[in-house]
Amino acid sequence: MRVAVYPGSFDPVTNGHIDIIEKSSRLFDRIIIAVVHNVTKKALFTLDERVAFIRESTQHLENIEVDCFSGLLANYLREKKACAIVRGLRSMTDFEYEMHMAMMNKRLIPEVDTIFIMANAEHVFVSSSGVKEAALLGGDVSSLVPPQVKIGLEQKYKQLRG
Ligand code: PNS
Repeated sequence: MRVAVYPGSFDPVTNGHIDIIEKSSRLFDRIIIAVVHNVTKKALFTLDERVAFIRESTQHLENIEVDCFSGLLANYLREKKACAIVRGLRSMTDFEYEMHMAMMNKRLIPEVDTIFIMANAEHVFVSSSGVKEAALLGGDVSSLVPPQVKIGLEQKYKQLRG
């Protein structure tokens, strides 16, 4: 069984991520979407909220598992017996960051390769941070994120505004 891990912050998951998940689910037997628990990076959504959004948005796919990890990705890949890391690419700006990460992971776990999947053209400008900023300022993000995430963003910003 060929297992790939798609790691990320997913704060929150966007339609761009869903596009990458759908594409990678056709290439591997199983995709583990691994949400990072990073204590040093402040996320808008809790780990449980981020996981729930992904679970709800990937119900139409059969070979998907949603999980969390903390610490070194290489250790998690070993634990899951993964053969590949999946990452999405939108632009040359992504490429530089992704290339360094892929090379670092290759050094840490040589038996695993990073597979880059190009986002569809309609998603190249979509990022979690852009979506959060637009939603905070009252922009309509319904074409950029799954419906549950749109509702989650509205609720979160309502809570934060008090
Ligand atoms: O969605 P993001 O924030 O770009 O994802 C980054 C992520 C989670 C894939 C990356 O930060 C990561 O792998 N973190 C785990 C720590 C690690 O293994 N670092 C060494 C490899 S660069």
